[in-house]
Amino acid sequence: MSTEEEGPRRALTVRDFLEMKAEGSPIVALTAYDVLFAGLVEKAGIDFILVGDSLGQVVLGHPSTLPVTVEDMIRHAAAVRRGAPDSFIVVDMPFLSYQVSVEDTVRNAGRIMKETGVQAVKLEGGNRRVLDAIEALVAVGIPVMGHLGLTPQSVHALGGYRVQGRDPLSAEDLKERARALEASGVFSIVLELVPGTLAGEISRSLDVPTIGIGAGPECDGQVLVLYDALGLNAEFQPRFLKRFAEIHEAALDGVRDYVREVRERSYPGPEHTFS
Ligand code: KIV
Repeated sequence: MSTEEEGPRRALTVRDFLEMKAEGSPIVALTAYDVLFAGLVEKAGIDFILVGDSLGQVVLGHPSTLPVTVEDMIRHAAAVRRGAPDSFIVVDMPFLSYQVSVEDTVRNAGRIMKETGVQAVKLEGGNRRVLDAIEALVAVGIPVMGHLGLTPQSVHALGGYRVQGRDPLSAEDLKERARALEASGVFSIVLELVPGTLAGEISRSLDVPTIGIGAGPECDGQVLVLYDALGLNAEFQPRFLKRFAEIHEAALDGVRDYVREVRERSYPGPEHTFS
């Protein structure tokens, strides 16, 4: 359903994603955090936009996603909605916005939906507490995307940003959690940093689509952090990441040219000056 032709189109729905999986049509997603990049990814024909809590690191400069607040997510999600009015947008529920109580979960997700106009939220993990939270959201009509494998909000419990499900026991655990998430009513599941064959097995065992990041080609769709995909962060080059542009270099060259031209007094020239 993704189109390379640029131009307006209707936002997809949760039903479209199920159909795309049934048809074997890959679902393409990217993160976005602001109005200009949101407009750009919508223009390029993305299937959905994720306002990830990765914004804690790539926009706000925190060492992890843990400090991100509901207010941070609302501010950025509202900007993304303004930049991409015709896209399906999923917003991450940040750390401790859904783990404390079911009431808190519904209130926080409700605020995100009401104050931003996005279509869905994403929650990390698949233990009983998270399943209860998901079931409560689904019961009030909020579409939920799950997230398994490396779940960055649990980075300290996991002992770092490492591939998950490498041994038979944890692989079995991941498969079980994926089935439990599907039963709880999610419309899709992100699989992050999972061996490719395991991600393929999980994807084939589910009716809902899986969206991989660092989980190989057998997922039903792919998502990347936009700034990583565009090469904005020169230092970040994990194995799974392909850079589709080298924005860091281009931006640095541009800023250096500006600095030089102002110092040489060649900018602004007569063509940039009001008479
Ligand atoms: O926060 C985020 O950007 C994410 C993606 C990495 C899937 O959750």
